[in-house]
Amino acid sequence: MSIAGLLKRNGPNGLGFSSTAEDVTQGLNLTNKTILITGINSGLGLETGRVLSKRGAQVLGLARTLGKAKSVSPLMNDSYTPLVCELSDPKSVFECVETLKNTKLKIDAIICNAGVMALPQLQQNYGIELHFLTNHIGHFILVTGLLDSLADCGRVTMVSSLAHKMFSYKEGIQFRNFSGSQGYDRYKAYGHSKLANILFANELSKRLVSMTLTANALHPGVIRTNLSRYSNPVMTAGMRIGEKIFFKTVAQGAATQSYVSVHPSLDGVSGKYFSDCNPARTSEHGRDTDMAERLWDVSEKMVLKLRNNEIWTDD
Ligand SMILES: NC(=O)c1ccc[n+]([C@@H]2O[C@H](COP(=O)([O-])OP(=O)(O)OC[C@H]3O[C@@H](n4cnc5c(N)ncnc54)[C@H](OP(=O)(O)O)[C@@H]3O)[C@@H](O)[C@H]2O)c1
Repeated sequence: MSIAGLLKRNGPNGLGFSSTAEDVTQGLNLTNKTILITGINSGLGLETGRVLSKRGAQVLGLARTLGKAKSVSPLMNDSYTPLVCELSDPKSVFECVETLKNTKLKIDAIICNAGVMALPQLQQNYGIELHFLTNHIGHFILVTGLLDSLADCGRVTMVSSLAHKMFSYKEGIQFRNFSGSQGYDRYKAYGHSKLANILFANELSKRLVSMTLTANALHPGVIRTNLSRYSNPVMTAGMRIGEKIFFKTVAQGAATQSYVSVHPSLDGVSGKYFSDCNPARTSEHGRDTDMAERLWDVSEKMVLKLRNNEIWTDD
């Protein structure tokens, strides 16, 4: 079998590389479900929102500005609710949590989809490197703030990436370099934040008090979206070579997160990592329970500082 054939072979559940978000939600009635999606205005978040909305869900669509969140309303059903959440601005995330708590809505799934990749230069906010702050800490504040708002069988879905393996630091989480000041590599900074997404899902899964609440992480595939806007030319050229074989369409890219967030066959499944709509294996660091616990503790410390408007220092 060719590489493409092997890659595109369906997994044990009949789903795989080529399945789309529409395929994996076919026949589901999500009319009474409320689903929160970060990064609603672009790429995989938009397609996930569109399809889950088509199946009847009330989608809470979060974007950096209300204008961006509202801009996708024409693709959603009438219950669509646009909200502001700038993940790199803790104040904005805290406010979004309060707004949602005040609605008293019960949320059936939180899909932590938003992400930024490969910022060319080190950027920090509150002393924290921006990939880590946006992709991990922003979502950590959002999810932990909304745990009481989850419905009985609520799910948390962390959209991670294969980059957690491909662009990783040897020691995994950089516990002495959350600022990025001790060394910065744009792809490793992205991979670092995506490893944090997996460890967060694993640790959350352990800490969830109710057995019916679940937390999982996933790799959506490789898809041409706005995510690569900061990619360097060498990386972009390299990606083009394999594009025909390795890339998914946006419709296919949105499948795994749609499946993991709403499919009834995954009721009660937690602490797992998925790729191509099937369970997959993370890096060794992605399975490190001590690292996950340590990351949770330091994330809590960071959030406390951010709540008090204090700058993070690595020492
Ligand atoms: N595409 C791929 O090949 C691929 C592969 C593996 C994993 N992923 C993951 O898939 C997820 C979705 O990415 P995508 O490919 O759909 O990329 P995308 O089209 O660039 O969408 C990313 C979304 O995240 C939002 N976002 C970025 N920074 C934010 C911030 N500070 N606050 C709030 N929202 C922010 C973006 O908003 P703006 O438009 O306002 O910037 C956008 O809505 C990401 O987590 C990414 O890491 C993608």
